[in-house]
Amino acid sequence: MKKTLIIANWKMNPKTTKEANNLFNSVKAGSHRIKKTEVVICPPFIYLPFLKEKGRLKLGGQNGFWEESGAYTGEVSLLMLKKIGAEYVIIGHSERRKYFKETNSEVLKKTKSALSVGLKPIICVDKVSQIPDFSNFRKEEIKNIIIAYEPLFAIGTGKACSPKKAKEKRLLIKHDFVLYGGSVNFKNARDYLLEAGFQGLLVGGASLKAKEFIKIIDSAEKN
Ligand code: 13P
Repeated sequence: MKKTLIIANWKMNPKTTKEANNLFNSVKAGSHRIKKTEVVICPPFIYLPFLKEKGRLKLGGQNGFWEESGAYTGEVSLLMLKKIGAEYVIIGHSERRKYFKETNSEVLKKTKSALSVGLKPIICVDKVSQIPDFSNFRKEEIKNIIIAYEPLFAIGTGKACSPKKAKEKRLLIKHDFVLYGGSVNFKNARDYLLEAGFQGLLVGGASLKAKEFIKIIDSAEKN
């Protein structure tokens, strides 16, 4: 993965398919010239089938279950995600850990399943200790894993982590491809890429405003 990765985590937004389509189309229109950046939109599952004309955008899921199919009411398998056209999946987001009690061992199972069906897992961590042990993974698998450092205090609060502090954490994470997430906006995006040395960004709130998100993509292109 050589390109800068800009991921939009829409979380449980927007409220309607129409709004989802409009947002997607606006981002698509604003990113037709991207070259150095891979832009991934992670909408709620239900919108994925509607976002078929992707242009240069890629799709990802916000979660997924490790079994391929079966009696698991309410779950969506990682295989299903892959089949619908997703290339990435966010795993172990802090909101999943907090509200749905997701554990490190579940994160590991999901990571293995994602890799086996050909999805690139984006594993979210707030502490280095949450990074799964990759010692039993093959080199080619590790190359496809992305870690997203998202400090809890910075998620959805507007209190972004200073690039200096984020860089200190970045250096503790012994992995090639690491993203920063937490109150990213068009003003601070470049600092995390240039000053703190992250390979990309995981954007929540600012990814729901097409103009702002396009500015973030632009700053990554100029990186
Ligand atoms: P905000 O950008 O809204 O702080 O959300 C960050 C996040 O949780 C991305 O996954």
